[in-house]
Amino acid sequence: MADRNTLRTSAGAPWPNNQDSLSAGERGPLLLQDYQLIEKLAHQNRERIPERTVHAKGWGAHGKMVITEDISKYTKAKCLQKGVETPMLARFSTVAGELGAADHERDVRGFALKFYTEDGNWDMVGNNTPIFFVRDPYKFADFIHTQKRHPKTNMRSGAAMWDFWSLSPEAIHQVTILMSDRGLPQSPMHMNGYGSHTFSLWNDAGERYWVKFHYKTEQGHDFYTNEEAEKIIGKTREGYQERLFNTIENGQFPRWKFQIQVMPELDAEKCDFNPFDLTKVWPHDQFPMIDVGYIELNRNADNYFAEIENAAFSPSNVVPGISFSPDKMLQARVFSYADAHRYRLGTHYETIPVNRPLVEVHNYHKDGTMNVFGGVRTGNENAYYEPNSFADKGAAVEDRSAQEPPLKISGDAARYDHRTGYDDYSQCRVLVTKVMDEEQRQRLYKNMGGAMAGIPEFIAERWFGHLKQVDPAYEAGVRKAWNEANASGEYAANAAPITPDTPALTGGDAAG
Ligand code: NDP
Ligand code: HEM
Repeated sequence: MADRNTLRTSAGAPWPNNQDSLSAGERGPLLLQDYQLIEKLAHQNRERIPERTVHAKGWGAHGKMVITEDISKYTKAKCLQKGVETPMLARFSTVAGELGAADHERDVRGFALKFYTEDGNWDMVGNNTPIFFVRDPYKFADFIHTQKRHPKTNMRSGAAMWDFWSLSPEAIHQVTILMSDRGLPQSPMHMNGYGSHTFSLWNDAGERYWVKFHYKTEQGHDFYTNEEAEKIIGKTREGYQERLFNTIENGQFPRWKFQIQVMPELDAEKCDFNPFDLTKVWPHDQFPMIDVGYIELNRNADNYFAEIENAAFSPSNVVPGISFSPDKMLQARVFSYADAHRYRLGTHYETIPVNRPLVEVHNYHKDGTMNVFGGVRTGNENAYYEPNSFADKGAAVEDRSAQEPPLKISGDAARYDHRTGYDDYSQCRVLVTKVMDEEQRQRLYKNMGGAMAGIPEFIAERWFGHLKQVDPAYEAGVRKAWNEANASGEYAANAAPITPDTPALTGGDAAG
């Protein structure tokens, strides 16, 4: 009787030889009936799944969320009640780089959290910035195209990035953060996370509050300059993976303070800015931070592919007491992620252990790839449709207490111009002139001027026009840095410009 360590085929038969192929004679060709060799080759061919279309390079770990304060007046969410501890998974990422990209590249960082609550999974799929580049989902794919490779040259194109940004003034706030110290944190532990969008909380009385989620690093905002990062990338492309994995493996558990800002539902109408505009923060003095608790990462994945690459986060995953808002970008994301997962992982991607909720799932979805839950999971094998007569015999039934309060909506269905009449400069001005000190500003100018090196002059001038409206000193500082970077010629190896007149010239320096 073979023992339990016996090497077996996928069909369970003992595997006699995993070293020598079956050949016709010692020097002869192979036989087709060496099926285990064929299967081995076939498996290798299928080891890769599609990488995420954005945020492909990532690092993650398991941990917990602990609620230390009473916020029950805002939300009935069970996982947000004082004293509750919820297991969680975090995945951090860069946005633009592919799966093998270097970790220490200047880019926005993804900050995706999955909370395994007793009411199902709540996913908070944020970034390390409180805002975003665009405010209408029509612009998302175009923006991402400018961050990825030029279709002809197969190189990143600085010209495309700055062409898009200079034609999208709403991007200036986020581009400023990207080019600031916060655009290159030393590790995932040295940055904040933000839900970025406005979400909502609702309480037992059916009252709704708009909310912003903040996760403030307790490790400090340590960053690298471009020059420091270049040296690190010269030595290792996996700097974030090494820092995060080794820190946790050594028993040091990074933490983030969990805070919220709230706004009663009807106050949104009185707000002097659109509180659902993803390019704007809620100023702290108008909407003070409220302590909620903390999150802690304390366990590395046993298998990176199974637990981090296979993780499927989606803003559509909310639980009773937490919900969406009218933010147009969020509305698009509520659709987009689960669709991406069905393509990347398969129809029933939520049956993969890392995505599986703690609670037993009963619903009327049926069949399809990855149905490993035994056909139907309604609680009664005769109940494979609804309505049915098996409610008192275990068949799954609705829970109306999970119904969120109605949301009053008014207005004509129309395509509202989101490009004119918005103030895209004021909040950016406060950041550059009041929040940053002089040393931070000088680094911002240098980073931005350097990232713009080699782009066509007319695109640069268009961007300078926006910078001037933020602050003339900002424009002057970046212009000077741009001139210096152009004169140095250092960019030339990878950043010859592409212009409308020279469509096939090469790409540009990574801005994101
Ligand atoms: P505050 O002075 O109260 O807030 C400024 C905040 O800016 C800080 O609390 C900190 O947020 C963040 N910050 C500090 N240094 C940097 C930096 N180098 N790069 C990016 N962010 C930094 O004023 P307001 O609330 O009125 O915000 C002023 C500006 O600060 C905003 O226009 C926005 O650009 C930026 N900001 C605001 C945030 C908000 O939620 N109100 C959040 C982050 C940035 P944190 O504590 O989150 O680190
Ligand atoms: C990943 C779409 C805006 C944060 C993704 C993925 C898609 C996507 C398709 C890949 C999912 C996968 O294959 O697993 C969109 C669309 C957006 C948008 C359509 C706007 C309309 C944003 C914004 C944020 C954000 C505003 C942050 C506030 C993330 C993060 C990931 C991600 C963190 C990686 C999640 C992970 O670690 O697996 N996005 N996105 N995205 N997005 Fe977005």
